Amino acid sequence: MDGNGRWATRRFLPRLAGHKKGLDALRRCVRLCMERGVAVLTVFAFSSENWGRPQDEVSGLMALMATALTREVPELAREGVRLHFVGERESLPAKVQTGLAQAEVATAANDRLVLNICFNYGGRWDMAQAAARVAAAGQALTEENINAAMALAHVPDPDLIIRTGGELRLSNFLLWQAAYAELLFSDRLWPDFDAADLDAAIAEFARRERRFGQTSAQVSAQAASE
Ligand code: IPE
Ligand code: MG
Repeated sequence: MDGNGRWATRRFLPRLAGHKKGLDALRRCVRLCMERGVAVLTVFAFSSENWGRPQDEVSGLMALMATALTREVPELAREGVRLHFVGERESLPAKVQTGLAQAEVATAANDRLVLNICFNYGGRWDMAQAAARVAAAGQALTEENINAAMALAHVPDPDLIIRTGGELRLSNFLLWQAAYAELLFSDRLWPDFDAADLDAAIAEFARRERRFGQTSAQVSAQAASE
């Protein structure tokens, strides 16, 4: 969800105003995904590297998370959203840690849409913590064991990864899980990402041929036999 800061700066607003608009865009995106039958939505809200931003922006983002938890969770719970927070939690403010845990409990019985919010998350962090857990359990460091220990083991690998804001990089998002994801880079700043953008992304995804290492002929033959 990139581009909040630029959205605000272009309007001569403080960056935090952009993050607030970004939260509105996320709320809208969650509803749209439910309407379109998306089963899992995973968003990158705060990276392991975002701690390096100016102190007021970091504390503003933590405060925004705390208020969002209080304000949004009851509605999300009613709508059938199951929340998971993915990332390292110990370094977060105590209030946020409690809020995350409570939100997960409050939505644990839901299954309409799984919403993973990556917060204090990094793809490298996830790979390292998974490997450490596998090793600590005395298991072999196989792909299967590492996969099962990843913080996103409860959902399949993503089919489509959308990065807004015009940058052409993954910035430590879903490094392990992105192996065969379709990548889509949009110039739209995240606060502006709307229904038309989501539908365009889904339409673009539908045009991609997914081969998972196989040939185009193999993929066509499989599709024809189904
Ligand atoms: C993404 O927007 C949101 C977070 C990283 C919290 P940015 O804050 O990176 O927005 P730009 O890239 O400065 O426009
Ligand atoms: Mg950015």
